[in-house]
Amino acid sequence: MAAGAMGKAYDATWGRFFAAYYDRALKASEENGLGDMRRALLADARGRVVEIGAGTGTNLDLYGAEVEDLTLIEPDPHMGARLRDRLAARTHAVPARLVAASAETIPFDDDTFDTAVATLVLCTVPDPVAAITELARVVRPGGHLLFIEHVRSDDPKTARWQDRLEKPWRFLADGCHCNRDTEANLSASAFQVESIDHGALPKSMPIVRPLILGSAHLPP
Ligand SMILES: C[S@@+](CC[C@H](N)C(=O)[O-])C[C@H]1O[C@@H](n2cnc3c(N)ncnc32)[C@H](O)[C@@H]1O
Repeated sequence: MAAGAMGKAYDATWGRFFAAYYDRALKASEENGLGDMRRALLADARGRVVEIGAGTGTNLDLYGAEVEDLTLIEPDPHMGARLRDRLAARTHAVPARLVAASAETIPFDDDTFDTAVATLVLCTVPDPVAAITELARVVRPGGHLLFIEHVRSDDPKTARWQDRLEKPWRFLADGCHCNRDTEANLSASAFQVESIDHGALPKSMPIVRPLILGSAHLPP
């Protein structure tokens, strides 16, 4: 088998395993604070909402009555299959659809959404700057971006370990870059960061522990 084809077969197998294992891998984090962070953040979601990299649909049941319509962007077929099952099992009424696409090219017109949501995803998208730029395009002026992201550490020693372990971690964690400076990427974007908490991903390894949680908006 050619190296490229072998890589593809490996990716497919690993991607299937990662999707199957994802909820269990995050269970301790969710139960020890991450779930509460998600709930508090998503209480601010309003109107037409787009969530990028929705994964297995962990956020799905946390959207409240102020959400009119939910668009879930997820390019990975294994994650998408789990998300589709969760959507089918759901009992509450917010209309929701899964769109198999990448955050870097969201197949919607400018100014379509009131709120964008990114949780634990700007670490993984291949081009986070393009993804944030694309969110700024599809969110209307005055609309919001809500985010929880694990990020590059402010502590130089931890950041050095994040740089050293970035490659093996990326391999193990299905494309996740543990050393991304997502706060800098947000600050350099069209979004204006209006609140940001610096915290820790509960029950996690030090290289993925530094966390930012907050909201940003586009100028009206
Ligand atoms: C670590 S998981 C996070 C899942 C979920 N957002 C959560 O909070 O648990 C990262 C997700 O980003 C997705 N992803 C990877 N590349 C992407 C891209 N270019 N655009 C959108 N999502 C992407 C992956 O398939 C995966 O579902």
